[in-house]
Amino acid sequence: MFARALIFAVVLGVTSSQTDTPLRTLAEARGKLIGTAVDTTALVTDRGYRETIARTFSSVTPENVMKWERVEHVRGVPDYTAADQLVSFAKANNQLVRGHTLVWHKQVPDWLTSAGFSGEDLADVLRSHVVDEASHFAGQLYAWDVVNEPFNDDGTWRTSIWYGAMGTEYVAQALQWARGADPAAKLYINDYNVEGINPKSDALYTLAQSLLARGVPLDGIGFQAHLTAQHGAPTTFTANLQRFADIGLDVAITEVDVRIALPADEDKLSKQADVYRALMQSCLAVDRCVSYTVWGFTDEHSWVPHAFNGQGAATLFDELLNPKPAYVAVANALAEGVIP
Ligand code: G3I
Repeated sequence: MFARALIFAVVLGVTSSQTDTPLRTLAEARGKLIGTAVDTTALVTDRGYRETIARTFSSVTPENVMKWERVEHVRGVPDYTAADQLVSFAKANNQLVRGHTLVWHKQVPDWLTSAGFSGEDLADVLRSHVVDEASHFAGQLYAWDVVNEPFNDDGTWRTSIWYGAMGTEYVAQALQWARGADPAAKLYINDYNVEGINPKSDALYTLAQSLLARGVPLDGIGFQAHLTAQHGAPTTFTANLQRFADIGLDVAITEVDVRIALPADEDKLSKQADVYRALMQSCLAVDRCVSYTVWGFTDEHSWVPHAFNGQGAATLFDELLNPKPAYVAVANALAEGVIP
């Protein structure tokens, strides 16, 4: 174990002076939150995992435990146990919590998809869910990813269960229900492959403009940023963030990971670090970019290898919690501030 850690540290060329100041301290000096998604099972079982979160991050997002299938596995029997534990952990460590996510086409309970509900029934069930969950956490979350992933990559609407039941109005309705239940939380739409200026981010931009024009309570846009080291960060990311900021919205980088075709080597890790750095520089360049959240911080507990065959090593720390070049790149970007 120790030998492996040593080899990694040597290969990575990371020295302790580059990692002495926690990211959360560096981020606070720039007025940004630095966050991570949290696997609440690891939070309970893995002390190193727990301690690294407390030391490194100023905000946490539950990776799975606020999703509908987890909070209402059995219809009418809410279970917020794991999510409440994370909220308590965050309070104890002076961290903010980003809620994730109220309305999504995935990770909905089996009872919902198998009941043969009419469109009208589905709208009722969705309203109850949004109101109940947002009420449960009211006042405890700084932001909610209210609607997750409404668009296809070509900018057309995703024909999800919610779109099928309510058409495009499900987005406005969900935002209004969430605002009524938790007036303090910033309300977001969150999506992936919207980092660059492209048909999907154009569709999101048009939707955001129209919601704001109607007075629908939309406060921000989340840019997930599940990227690859090979393809790099989109060159239009800063301009894209800025155009949403310019219409009066907060912007947040919500789910960063940068996967590598395994096995990782020095060159791939260096390219990965470049992507992490570029994303942070974009956030620093846009005043209304409030947070930079990674979707898991250690390769030991990352969804990536489970979802992408032959790819992984996507996070800031290796399996033994040694900081990787990506960590140093984020730390340095924060220390340097905006590049003129
Ligand atoms: O909890 C069960 C466990 O009981 C069972 O034994 C095990 C067997 O596979 O599965 C467990 O559930 C898994 C769950 O994660 C919890 O670990 C699911 O199979 C697995 O599909 C699920 O994956 C999650 C994925 O969302 C589902 O779509 C990932 O952890 C989570 O990182 C990922 O997060 C999403 C964001 O919410 C939205 N943006 C994209 C992002 C990555 O896909």
